[in-house]
Amino acid sequence: MRVLFIGDIVGRKARNLAQEKIVILKDQLKLDAVIVNVENAAGGFGVTPAICDDFFLAGADVLTTGNHVWDKREIISYISESDRLLRPLNMIKGTPGLGMTIIKLKSGTIGVANIMTNLFMSRTDPVFEKLTDIVNYLKLNDNVNFSLVDVHGEASSEKMAIANALDGEVSAVVGTHTHVPTADHQILEKGTAYITDVGMSGDYNSIIGMNKEDALNRFLNPSSKKTKLEVSPGEPTLCAVVIETGINGLSKSINPLRLGGKLEQVSLK
Ligand SMILES: [Fe+2]
Ligand SMILES: [Fe+2]
Repeated sequence: MRVLFIGDIVGRKARNLAQEKIVILKDQLKLDAVIVNVENAAGGFGVTPAICDDFFLAGADVLTTGNHVWDKREIISYISESDRLLRPLNMIKGTPGLGMTIIKLKSGTIGVANIMTNLFMSRTDPVFEKLTDIVNYLKLNDNVNFSLVDVHGEASSEKMAIANALDGEVSAVVGTHTHVPTADHQILEKGTAYITDVGMSGDYNSIIGMNKEDALNRFLNPSSKKTKLEVSPGEPTLCAVVIETGINGLSKSINPLRLGGKLEQVSLK
């Protein structure tokens, strides 16, 4: 299968760009599935039901999130009834919504899990203890033809360790949250595609997608009253990866895709 994963959408311009590109790329690259991290899609903080619906309408199949999932309270009732919008799996028991899902598509059945790391992140259950749940639920070549884990976290070491723990068990492990793309996309030894961070889809003339002046001011004057950060208004770069799997469900390739905005443009050969 050929699957597009788009990194953290930051704000309206990035949303519009992503939705426009999903429609084009689905056809152009003959994509079987599209997965998007939307944790910053609503003004940089959280996501709303209307934004989720727009992504599904554009052709997204599953949406993932992270630490910002609850920033817009109206998402709580929506996520409670959705099997296509995920929150991190290792949030405490009783948290609304699902942390993993299985969706039947035309070209096969896909499984997606969303987890959050523990280092330098808001508190969640120990992430390594949840990995067996993922492997037991998303069984490659059994109940799913393709499986992807969105590892939402700050520390590259932890993300890489999770990927190696899952190597050979899932089709892909992709990192999100840092809002900066890494250049280490690769197929791990046992066939799992991996990248430490896909990068945000947002304005890179910014500090991780937010207005430079306000974000810098927080560092320069840590004791002053925090001003609310606004999404940086420049042209966004869509940051994504395209993963291709073979008949065994493991990956043959993972390629970055960067379109629009300030970053160097990368399209598929
Ligand atoms: Fe994010
Ligand atoms: Fe995040």
